[in-house]
Amino acid sequence: MANFLVIGGGVAGLRAAIELAGSGEVLVITKGKVMESSTWRAQGGIAVALAEGDEPELHMKDTLKAGVGLCDESAVKILVEEGVPRVEELISWGANFDKENGKLSFTQEGAHKIRRIIHAMGDATGEEVHRTLMRRVQGIENIKFFEHTFLIDLLIEGEECSGALIMDQNGEEQIIFASAIILASGGAGQLYRDTTNPPVATGDGLAIAYRAGCELQDMEFIQFHPTTLYLPSAPCFLISESVRGEGGVLKNSKGEAFMSEYHEMGDLAPRDVVCRAIFNQMWRTKSSNVFLDMRHLKPDFLKRRFPNIYMTCKKYGQDITRDLIPVRPAAHFLMGGVKTDLNSETNIKRLFSCGEAASVGVHGANRLASNSLLEGLVFGKRAGVSSSKCLGELARPNRARPNKDASPKINFGEIKKSLQELMEEKAGIIRCGKSLKEALEKLEEWDKILEVPLSSQEEFELRNMVTVARLITASALRREESRGAHFRSDFPATDDKKWKRHIVTKRGG
Ligand code: SIN
Repeated sequence: MANFLVIGGGVAGLRAAIELAGSGEVLVITKGKVMESSTWRAQGGIAVALAEGDEPELHMKDTLKAGVGLCDESAVKILVEEGVPRVEELISWGANFDKENGKLSFTQEGAHKIRRIIHAMGDATGEEVHRTLMRRVQGIENIKFFEHTFLIDLLIEGEECSGALIMDQNGEEQIIFASAIILASGGAGQLYRDTTNPPVATGDGLAIAYRAGCELQDMEFIQFHPTTLYLPSAPCFLISESVRGEGGVLKNSKGEAFMSEYHEMGDLAPRDVVCRAIFNQMWRTKSSNVFLDMRHLKPDFLKRRFPNIYMTCKKYGQDITRDLIPVRPAAHFLMGGVKTDLNSETNIKRLFSCGEAASVGVHGANRLASNSLLEGLVFGKRAGVSSSKCLGELARPNRARPNKDASPKINFGEIKKSLQELMEEKAGIIRCGKSLKEALEKLEEWDKILEVPLSSQEEFELRNMVTVARLITASALRREESRGAHFRSDFPATDDKKWKRHIVTKRGG
């Protein structure tokens, strides 16, 4: 029992917990260890209008342009305006962002017209943000953590959420009641074979919200990051877009720079444009990757500015100061999610959502680089403020603990691997009606197979992955146009007349 239950320990969940702690007891549950979130892995930085000559309106303009007509303007206004005090607050809590001559140092990433991205420890901004929030949280008695705790389902009574069914670290099922529940469970990159996301990002919160009756929107918009290290021996490792912001150049396997052929912003074009250009170059040159060239930049600068990238590439035999680094795109961020209003409230009473799990409308069809940590700070706080108002008498449903049945013999690991391949091939950077229909058929087949009593985390996770994959695929099939991160080879044009609108999905219609 807690007054408030926060699901997820990334930037959005932690910021919400800090806000709520003044109103009651907060329990934060995380599926793995608290630092195994996408926040921890964020390299590039936080986009915020703090540089000289920058203003929230300019940040807003770039965000709207990247979102290709699908951003909610009032949400973006809140993001860029409240983003400034949220970042200043983080600095006052001890976040140590990189400086030059005593002033914040700014870098640039794709689709930003000016240098407005602050960063920490060169390329480990997420770590610094997370550490700062955790330091703050650890000084607050009202906040408790349950790590290795898996959300199985939300408890819904009528139109209200009253808590959650969880599996604790001993594999035991428990019910936790709360006055308000904040879903900040992150994204679903693990649905794809290649992803920058941590292993915990299997979309559980999204599938669970869908089963609970939440509206989900924009599920077809999956952002792929153009540059992840591609070596047979190495894991899929992000190479920050700020590498190109500092002068790194994409080259094909013939050694030719190619981005100016595709966009006036060249290597700093919006992410979706860069991903498709890379795909096109891989196809033209019959290669499985392209390269990132940083050899013209000063070695000392590279080592100081990108210590994490330098060390990781080095570990796998690549020296960024001397070698061309093999890269290719990988699934990175879900623009869609649980639909919320500007106060992070979902269509279910007492249930709130923020961060990557939520869709408040700030990203539209394509998220502007480095807007996600900012979103977590701004809408995490908003979720905390609005959910604190739910404090009060709880409707406590009289629920028996569900029976645990033995699962039938299904090779869950095998289906998971096939699902990741399927999504990569048929619902990835370039899709078409035929590929999406084929994917949907297979997903429906797996969904049927999984209509059996499930009991382990692996089994619940797989069911969630199939649900979210179906939502992505069905929305992508429905949107018969190309916009931002959603590209249909059978409908390559953007069709504002018919499709400048959201696809909202809800269970049962
Ligand atoms: C990066 O550093 O390139 C990732 C930043 C982001 O996804 O916003």
